[in-house]
Amino acid sequence: MADHTRQKTVVIADYDYDDVGIERAIIEGAGLRLATAQCKTEDDVIAVARDADAIIAQYATVGAKAISALTRCEVIARYGTGTDIVDVDAATRRGILVTNVPNDWCENEVADHAMTLLLGAARKICKYDQATRVGIWRWQTGEPIHRISGRTPGLLSFGAIAQAICRRAAGFGLRVIASDPYMPAADIADRGAAPVSLEELLDQADYLVIQAPLTKETHHLIGEPELRRMKPTAILINTARGPIISDQALYKALSEGWIAGAGLDDIEEEPAKRPDWTPANPLFGLDNVIITPHAAYYSEEAIHTVRDFAASEVVRVLTGQPPLSPVNAVQIANSRRAAGPRLTANEEPRLRLQAELPGLSRPGRSGRSSPPREVIPLGGCRRHRRG
Ligand SMILES: NC(=O)c1ccc[n+]([C@@H]2O[C@H](COP(=O)([O-])OP(=O)(O)OC[C@H]3O[C@@H](n4cnc5c(N)ncnc54)[C@H](O)[C@@H]3O)[C@@H](O)[C@H]2O)c1
Repeated sequence: MADHTRQKTVVIADYDYDDVGIERAIIEGAGLRLATAQCKTEDDVIAVARDADAIIAQYATVGAKAISALTRCEVIARYGTGTDIVDVDAATRRGILVTNVPNDWCENEVADHAMTLLLGAARKICKYDQATRVGIWRWQTGEPIHRISGRTPGLLSFGAIAQAICRRAAGFGLRVIASDPYMPAADIADRGAAPVSLEELLDQADYLVIQAPLTKETHHLIGEPELRRMKPTAILINTARGPIISDQALYKALSEGWIAGAGLDDIEEEPAKRPDWTPANPLFGLDNVIITPHAAYYSEEAIHTVRDFAASEVVRVLTGQPPLSPVNAVQIANSRRAAGPRLTANEEPRLRLQAELPGLSRPGRSGRSSPPREVIPLGGCRRHRRG
């Protein structure tokens, strides 16, 4: 028989904030117990969260192995939008909800960061800065620099963040093209970009901006053949996820002059997910690349929002309310329905409410198909519904 007097436990599997004060106030304020850890591996997650009622994770992998070891977990909340650290299908099979934070928590920050990397790389800001500090006061340090106005940024994806980049680019006199196989061409055109194929994007972009989610389809989407297709004057910007680009191929492209430069907010090995990371990636030895530590999302305001939202999601689920941003509620409800009406008294109202939330996991608009589901761009669907 269920023990209704047991105090439920939330485990924060990992975090890189100075403290967990925001989460503690929300979780303990709701009468729940909070435990924290700094998991770097799935085995760490199993060790600290096996008997947790809820898990919040930032970078720690909560894969099929960890999920199969959980004894009573009801919800796994991601501090962020992408849920690629969680095996959502495995969670769905176990009836465990996965939640994310709708993407507008950091949309402006990431768009600003993408434009900053683009402008910084195009104007050689880091190179100038390094030179002036050692007494080299010459505009020639940056040669060659080309006029930005009139050039063509190519956006890989035209989701919420890419659209925010597009709006900013217009102010710099740029002509934006975009490739997004899951968005109708007319919708891309309505929002200010010329729709193109991936091949046209690679051929025409002066600045190729990667803003697609990391999926099986986009993993290593940018490798040697794609980089060889690009203009020798092109600059590659990645404010999405490191593994979308093959770093080995990118190193060759940058050191052999297939492309001119790059601005990366993540690298292939995703250092934040590594227990003992050192900057051995040869990209760090090149002066035509700017690298930031997956910081595009960061602002004080964005961090507060994401922490508050993730903690509030687990409280909602553990106190029997529907979460506001479930990733797999419909799939769980459907599989339960297919398996027969054997929902527990606790589960039934929660899953029913989640399944009835308007538009969840449905295409954002008529005619829009879905990307292969590794990461569900739920936030994007919301945005399109609003817009
Ligand atoms: N660096 C950071 O700090 C940071 C912060 C937030 C998000 N992100 C990354 O940015 C990504 C996009 O975020 P968003 O809020 O714009 O998401 P979104 O859900 O609004 O849009 C994603 C878009 O990608 C498109 N897409 C899917 N597969 C594609 C493919 N193979 N080729 C081209 N387009 C494809 C989808 O159709 C959708 O329009 C996230 O998945 C995340 O990985 C990075």
